[in-house]
Amino acid sequence: MAQVITSVDHLTFSAHNLPALPAPKQVLMVEPTFFSVDYAINPHMADNIGNVDKTAARNQWQQVLGVFRQLGFSVHRLEGQKGLPDMVFCANQSLPYINPAGRKQVVMSIMHSDMRKEEVPYIEQWYRQQGYEVRYLDREKVRAFEGCGDAIWHSGQRLLWGGYGYRTSREAYKAVSGMLDVPVMALRLADEHFYHLDTCFCVLNETTVLIYPQAFTESGLKLIHAVFDHVIEASEDEAKERFACNASCPDGQNVIIQQGCREVNSKLREAGFTIHEVETSEYLKSGGSVFCMKQLLW
Ligand code: ARG
Repeated sequence: MAQVITSVDHLTFSAHNLPALPAPKQVLMVEPTFFSVDYAINPHMADNIGNVDKTAARNQWQQVLGVFRQLGFSVHRLEGQKGLPDMVFCANQSLPYINPAGRKQVVMSIMHSDMRKEEVPYIEQWYRQQGYEVRYLDREKVRAFEGCGDAIWHSGQRLLWGGYGYRTSREAYKAVSGMLDVPVMALRLADEHFYHLDTCFCVLNETTVLIYPQAFTESGLKLIHAVFDHVIEASEDEAKERFACNASCPDGQNVIIQQGCREVNSKLREAGFTIHEVETSEYLKSGGSVFCMKQLLW
């Protein structure tokens, strides 16, 4: 079912009839030993160069890891690398999945920023050690693709949501869709503060999503509303200052989210979700929070 959909007019199938995708059961996290803000490649980093409290960052990372464990996920820990301060955001270097035959595969990213390009081979090596089949995009055709920062699986179904405009170029989704034989709902991102799809869009379960609506175009919002029965909205303050939409709901029930997203949390509780608040303030300085501090695996 390879196709890239950018408007509801091209939506010729019901998203709920697509083949099933099993639930992920494992998590990869990269140790924050070398995490810092050394350069600015998104607006959140600009005022924070040199400002990371390393001890706090280590404790916060440990806390996020602890919640995933508590929820029953087995967590793989990979060493970070000196000189690669953003490697800790391990949602970005790859797009892993399990294919319909049960084979573990991964598409490696083509990082937009030169600062992050060298992270990819370390992550690739780890996947190889785990027995993954590693796949590459054609660099002649694809300028940039930042993995699960922009490409997000729909819960339980072989459907991808793909953000583009800042870190991933639109043509990446033609390649990804063809390679994985899955439809991609392509969403243009419209505000540089929400430079990855995972900063403004969080799939909670098959029918529910949390978004910051102002980060999308009209046609993107229509697509989101066409597929999800329940669209929960975050306010500008909680989305931009607390990265509410960079939460993670790895099992369709438990939401791990930056502390203090009061309005979003009350909407989520009302919708039946269980909230686990964590402090990720050191990572917010770099423009990231829970979702991008881990990679979900099968
Ligand atoms: N400083 C990192 C960058 O700009 C943060 C990445 C956060 N990841 C994410 N998926 N939002 O690339």
